[in-house]
Amino acid sequence: MAETNQSLQTLDALSSVRGGLASEDGMARLKALELCQRLQLELETPGETLFRTFWAQTAHHWILFAALDLNIPKILSEDGESPKTNTQIAKLANAEPVLIGRLMRHMASMGTVAELGPDTFAHTKFSRYLLTDAATACLTFMRYFQSVSTKAPEYLAQHNYVSPTSPQKAPYVWANGLTDTTFFGHLSQEPKYGPAFAGMMRAESEGKPTWSDGQLYPVKEKLTDVEDSNGALIVDIGAGNGQDLEWFHKNHPDMKGRLILQDLPYITDSVKLDGIEAMAHNFYDEQPVKGKYHFKPQICAKNLLSLSTPPGAQVYILHQIIHDYDDETCLKILRAIIPAMKPGYSKLLINELVLPDKGAHWFTTALDIQLMLCLSARERTRVQFMELVEKVGGGLRVEKIWTPPGNGMLDSLIECTIDP
Ligand SMILES: C[S@@+](CC[C@H](N)C(=O)[O-])C[C@H]1O[C@@H](n2cnc3c(N)ncnc32)[C@H](O)[C@@H]1O
Repeated sequence: MAETNQSLQTLDALSSVRGGLASEDGMARLKALELCQRLQLELETPGETLFRTFWAQTAHHWILFAALDLNIPKILSEDGESPKTNTQIAKLANAEPVLIGRLMRHMASMGTVAELGPDTFAHTKFSRYLLTDAATACLTFMRYFQSVSTKAPEYLAQHNYVSPTSPQKAPYVWANGLTDTTFFGHLSQEPKYGPAFAGMMRAESEGKPTWSDGQLYPVKEKLTDVEDSNGALIVDIGAGNGQDLEWFHKNHPDMKGRLILQDLPYITDSVKLDGIEAMAHNFYDEQPVKGKYHFKPQICAKNLLSLSTPPGAQVYILHQIIHDYDDETCLKILRAIIPAMKPGYSKLLINELVLPDKGAHWFTTALDIQLMLCLSARERTRVQFMELVEKVGGGLRVEKIWTPPGNGMLDSLIECTIDP
């Protein structure tokens, strides 16, 4: 009875966001999703939850990979997306109709395809999404990564159930039998999975607000044009495919100053984006885009300021970099930027999820686990970020943490400066 009352309360809460949903309020959508998930768990018996998790979802995962191998999303698009029978799909996929029927039925029960009649299927918005480059990159990488997740319980047992901290000994490295490398070290040698990972990162941020769209951070108030034609406005360190800089360029097309994408050569050798310069740079090395009046301790000892070119940046940004590493490694990355920053002018922006003290969203908790598997890394709380920045030294301090409203699925922006 108590359980039924609980579900009825959740249903009432769900009806109360109806108005918000009708007016397409994004926060109402997030609330409705959270309540739907809660309602499902309240209504299910524990056994139903168990079988849904371990039978239905596990089968759904591998069936999706097989469906992609069989080109099923593409087949569903043919003839103007007209509904298709098992026999028609099987013929085009060169497979047995009975097998296709079984795979399609499970995909329909999980909502991936629509079942319009007996043995007749059509696209949903999800199966259509599977046709995109973004989904292809994600699923290529996720399929490759499956073996690491499967071996994770064994890894933890063999490592005394302690959170891993060394990137060289991360579950990914261990599960693949690698030595003397890290997740990124290995991926940068992988012609298929390196680009798939970069594509997945791009897909993961697609459709989400970006730090520069004015909703999170008042770009117009905070940043100014860089008048020096050689001057950098933004250096995106570990930028991946450069989507953040692309969005910045779209959001602020008239803002003056160079936009520089830095990453390892496996990215910078191939990325080509209008208005954005790609620069190979290992972020453990000292930041090469240095301030014009760049502070060099050895020269400063003689009370001199060095003139270096090219002039330095107004913003150095790290998006989803800090969460890839333990504190010690983060300190190396952050300290390599400090000498390039002009006090009172340059900003160091750390664009990351900030873990709430309670009630973290599944997206954040799942990412935290993925980070542990790939890199022995983790998401951080507000306090952990404050402590990390304090340890960097060189006068770096947190000016403000800009946190978006919502359920914690969106990245915050930790604005750091050095006082003049
Ligand atoms: C998690 S991805 C983040 C990409 C991008 N900032 C984003 O938010 O989508 C981490 C990026 O760091 C890059 N990276 C890893 N090690 C690096 C290094 N030593 N120097 C420069 N970039 C590196 C990777 O190639 C990858 O593109």
